[in-house]
Amino acid sequence: MVVTPWEVKGKVDYERLIREFGTQPITNDLLKKITNHTDQLHLQLQRKIFFSHRDLDTVLDLYDKGTKFVLYTGRGPSGPIHIGHLVPWIFTRHIQEKFNTRLYFQLTDDEKYLIDDDANLKETRLNAYENALDLIALGFKPENTFIIYDTEDIDLLYETALEVAKRITYSTARSTFGFQDSTNIGWVFWPALQAAPCFIHKKLTGENVPALIPAAIDQDPYWRVTRDIAPKLGYYKPAQIHCRFLPGLAAGGKMSASQPETSIFTMDKPDVVKKKIWNAFTGGKGTAAEQRKLGADPSVCSIYQYYYYLFEESDIKLAEREHKCRAGEMLCGECKKDIAEKLNTFLAAHQERREKAKDVIDQYHIKR
Ligand code: TRP
Repeated sequence: MVVTPWEVKGKVDYERLIREFGTQPITNDLLKKITNHTDQLHLQLQRKIFFSHRDLDTVLDLYDKGTKFVLYTGRGPSGPIHIGHLVPWIFTRHIQEKFNTRLYFQLTDDEKYLIDDDANLKETRLNAYENALDLIALGFKPENTFIIYDTEDIDLLYETALEVAKRITYSTARSTFGFQDSTNIGWVFWPALQAAPCFIHKKLTGENVPALIPAAIDQDPYWRVTRDIAPKLGYYKPAQIHCRFLPGLAAGGKMSASQPETSIFTMDKPDVVKKKIWNAFTGGKGTAAEQRKLGADPSVCSIYQYYYYLFEESDIKLAEREHKCRAGEMLCGECKKDIAEKLNTFLAAHQERREKAKDVIDQYHIKR
């Protein structure tokens, strides 16, 4: 297993990541604390898709005593958005609504330019715009949502990035991020820019409040170095809540834009979705007769995961589907047909909202 901000490979062992990264599991006590504010537990918490955190308890305690928090997350605009990217964003929107908090959203066109030999800035900027449309399509409110386009908004980030950069040694950065002699120096400095939005709220409003970062766990190294230096700069340590990766449509591995055949992109057309789903890896048997007799294995099935992560909100219906699958009562064809329909309904609505987002995108820019 490899889990770094730039590479996720192999079967991810989430328990091991909690130990190795030194994060905390999300306990039932903590879940209870969250429900005090959100009535019902969000599906992604209930199903442990968000499974680990740092200081979420501290942030909630502060909140109870009257100190707000802000949300911060982001995206490296390397290409189009797939449904795996949407998972933490959907959750972020839920938290924004329930706690009435600001969201700072960073689009790191500079990062993608620096780390990918073939990238050019024109392209990563264009991707950033396209990716912002997907974010807005999820229903974020403009009054509480502030999108940062790194190259365009560098003047807002630069002083904070300098404060951060000055306090992280090369030795720490090298051991945290695995920098090599051949690493370009832009990349070596760059983590200071991902740290900067953790603290930007104070600069903009004068309020010193903690940031809570919902994101996939691969981003953790950034937060480790940022948390170390935050108190020295007079800021709260940024808190995190970490999610799992949505699996791709192949056997094992996360959904990844570099494998388009096993990823569902937000702009995929219905027939493309059907075809990808049709070719997806399942836990089925070689023949229908065999499967009716022996049943199938949803625990290894990519399709089952999409019901679990996104498309079956009812626990009862999910359990029914699982049971029918194991008992050989429902075959893969039927399950695939259902999920393709659910996906296409979701995508049609998303695409419509995404188109409308083009008219309002400026209202979300941090420099509006
Ligand atoms: N480095 C992230 C990526 O490559 C982008 C990012 C910037 C981000 N700031 C963030 C992700 C905060 C999560 C939270 O995708």
